[in-house]
Amino acid sequence: MPVQESSKQSTQRTDGARADRKRRSLVSWLLGGGVAASLASFFYPVVRFLNPPAASEASVNEVAAGRVQDLKPNSGKVVKFGNKPALLVRVSETEWKAFSAVCTHLNCTVQYQDGRQQIWCACHNGFYDLNGAVVSGPPPRPLEEFAVHVRGDDVVISRRA
Ligand code: FES
Repeated sequence: MPVQESSKQSTQRTDGARADRKRRSLVSWLLGGGVAASLASFFYPVVRFLNPPAASEASVNEVAAGRVQDLKPNSGKVVKFGNKPALLVRVSETEWKAFSAVCTHLNCTVQYQDGRQQIWCACHNGFYDLNGAVVSGPPPRPLEEFAVHVRGDDVVISRRA
C-alpha cells in the first residue's frame, strides 16, 4: 500500500500548506490592522488640532456673574465668560469692576489680591491695577475690561461696545 500512503501524505502536505497560508494571512491582517490603528491614533489628534470645532465664544457677550450679596467689598471672584474666565471685583459697596481673567503674558488665570487691591497673576508675579493696566511684571498689555451691571440683586458682566 505505498501508493495510498503517498497519496495520504500528499493530502496532508496540501492541508498543512493551506493551514500555513491561512495563518500567514491572519497574521498579515492583524499586523496591517495594527499599523492602520497606530497611524489613525497618531493622525487623528493632529487633524483635530489643525481643524478644531467651531467655538461658540463669539456669541457670548453677557453673563450672569452671581448675586450682589455673594461678594463682599474688596473681594473678587473668577466666573465663566463663555469658554474663558472673567474676574469680577467688588471694589466697594457700590463700585464693581470686571476684566478678562486671562493674563496678557502667557494666558494664566489672574485673581484679585485684597491686600494690595490689585489683580495678580501667580504664574510670573504680574500685577495689574483696578483699571486693568499693568503695574509690574512681564504682562505686555492691560487686561480687557468688561462692563458690570447691577440689576436688582443680580450682577451681570458684558463686553464693552
Ligand atoms: S502668565 Fe501672567 S505673568 Fe506670566
